[in-house]
Amino acid sequence: MTALRLFSAAIIPVTIVASMSGYGIENRYNVFIPYVPTPEFIVDRMLEMAEIGKDDLLLDLGSGDGRIVIAAAQRYGARGRGVEIDPKLVEESKENARKVGVDHLAEFVAQDMFVAKMADASVLSLYVLTASNLELRPRILSEMKPGSRVVSHQFSMGAWIADKQESYGDIQIYMWYVPARVAGTWRLDDGKRTYMLTIEQSYQDIGGTMKIGDRTLPLRLTKLRGAEIDFAVDLGEERPIVYRGRVSDGIMEPRPSPGAVPGWRAVRITAPVQEIK
Ligand SMILES: C[S@@+](CC[C@H](N)C(=O)[O-])C[C@H]1O[C@@H](n2cnc3c(N)ncnc32)[C@H](O)[C@@H]1O
Repeated sequence: MTALRLFSAAIIPVTIVASMSGYGIENRYNVFIPYVPTPEFIVDRMLEMAEIGKDDLLLDLGSGDGRIVIAAAQRYGARGRGVEIDPKLVEESKENARKVGVDHLAEFVAQDMFVAKMADASVLSLYVLTASNLELRPRILSEMKPGSRVVSHQFSMGAWIADKQESYGDIQIYMWYVPARVAGTWRLDDGKRTYMLTIEQSYQDIGGTMKIGDRTLPLRLTKLRGAEIDFAVDLGEERPIVYRGRVSDGIMEPRPSPGAVPGWRAVRITAPVQEIK
């Protein structure tokens, strides 16, 4: 039986397994997430897909024996924190980190992942069922910084489609960039004129319009990757007018980029009643 089948077979309502596990009983999400370690070559690919580096802080929610956090520290010098509900696995992880000399980079805590802090992590790794990913998704989108990477072994994020996906037999790896929240109306000023920009957003997919004089033009060539946003408007001239910006706290400013409009700034003036989650 493959790890995936073993995992699937173990998705049992928590009420049934609570007495066996000793951990699930506190889990209000009604699923028991068993301990199934990620194969080492999948750990390698997860870290590569997340483009982890020494400046990252990796958070592994449901960290098992600590292998993902330890690999990130050993191979990339990245700091990491594993959050694991089973205290025996937490002790084993600490021992594993100590044995390979990365205990100064790798921290392990016995905690329920659903209440664990995630705002300081720049990379989040998961191997915890789609239902759990969906429970975590609103917090990932609101608490993690735009541009942070999320990598999941096997399980998707539902409607939030992955930015990268790889398959190895029946194993899947998904990777997402946390998108900035850009939906709403913006006032864009280029030093000479002011334009009204309206952006609609579904995770990293964006569209919208820009009002230029009495014309309302659709945004073209749109792209949102983390805090980096691109869009263009076509005025019927030889080339569309291209904006490449960076978003931070409701302000959009240009990223230096050949062929793109320099010297503009946009301010978000209204946000949707409900942000993406
Ligand atoms: C499939 S294993 C993944 C282990 C490790 N991340 C890896 O990929 O090798 C899932 C882990 O989540 C832990 N877990 C289950 N429910 C949890 C919860 N509510 N909070 C924290 N950890 C939990 C399990 O004990 C198990 O070790």
